[in-house]
Amino acid sequence: MKRILLLTFACLCLAAPGISSADTPAKPTAEDFGKTADGTPVELYTLKSSKGLVAKIMTRGATLVQLHVPDSDGKSADVIFGFDDVAGYESEDNQYFGCTTGRVCNRIAKGKFSLDGKDYTLAINNEPNHLHGGVERSLDKVVWKAKPFANEKGTGVTFSYTSPDGEEGYPGNLDVTVRFFVPTDANRVSITYTAKTDKATPVNLTNHAYFNLGGAGSETVLNHKLMLNAPQYTPVDDTLIPTGEIKDVEGTVLDFRKPTRIGKGIEELTDTAALGYDHNFVLAEIPEGKSMRMAARLVDPDSGRTLTISTDQPGIQFYSGNFLMGQTGKDGKTYPHRSAVCLETQHYPDSINQPKFPSTVLKPGEEFKSTTVLNFGN
Ligand code: GLA
Repeated sequence: MKRILLLTFACLCLAAPGISSADTPAKPTAEDFGKTADGTPVELYTLKSSKGLVAKIMTRGATLVQLHVPDSDGKSADVIFGFDDVAGYESEDNQYFGCTTGRVCNRIAKGKFSLDGKDYTLAINNEPNHLHGGVERSLDKVVWKAKPFANEKGTGVTFSYTSPDGEEGYPGNLDVTVRFFVPTDANRVSITYTAKTDKATPVNLTNHAYFNLGGAGSETVLNHKLMLNAPQYTPVDDTLIPTGEIKDVEGTVLDFRKPTRIGKGIEELTDTAALGYDHNFVLAEIPEGKSMRMAARLVDPDSGRTLTISTDQPGIQFYSGNFLMGQTGKDGKTYPHRSAVCLETQHYPDSINQPKFPSTVLKPGEEFKSTTVLNFGN
């Protein structure tokens, strides 16, 4: 009898969430994060390192909702923008905060492209262009399926979504996954994307987190120092569509090859359509034998917090929050003009219409796979 009881107890322990072997951390469990306006339940998952990083990610839009990291005194702050509930994310105040962006992030000129002899027309949601995958069923707005996991290195969640053929005007049934992983021993978030299709289709995926390393809600990001491993950029027309040229950053306010205060040259761009920085930078080549390279390093001199981003993608969109409008976000904090930066690793904007840019076309039988790593320090 005693034996049976012991055995039952051991089985219960193994099955219970939160209890795991000494080497493997507990598998993250789903928390209820409310419902979308159409009644779909949304889950929230928490990933933690032993060094103080806490990341919270929800199933709506496979979105980073919170990201807490310590400063040089060990004081933690949430360094990304977001809202306290799903209704906030569904409101007009949400400018893609923390979401997975696609099927094609950034702009497609006039919402038009041709592929395999067929013409496609997408929604115009950023006059006169298509932006960030569309209007109602872009990847940031749908609720993904979550599969949490744990291994001896840390914890993670794989989000998956199948976007049906024709959704938001894009061809092909597209199976997308986004895997977030936080190792136990470092303040790091790895984001890995995969995609498969049954018809040729453009794919460009990124995460749209807004960072202020002084803590989300701090007044400005202009005192942060930024380094971009980018010798070139793609000039744009007055609707922010690339002209097709690739130009050197040398001698321009886009030269961030050495750490530079974001506010230093931004005023030179105030009168452009971008109202500040909103540019795609061409990243330096990936060294031979490596799968990715450092793309960006952001430093907040006040808190001492740093963010180093590595990626295998060819470009990074550096956006200095020029369209932020002082909306209210998490904990009643406000998000003024230029109070955060987005560093969106991706292929270049409008690649589908630019034959000289690296291709974003995914074909049946191929797998798109890409990784971006956010490394925090202090
Ligand atoms: C991207 C774009 C910006 C803006 C933001 C969202 O970064 O490049 O122009 O649309 O998304 O507000």
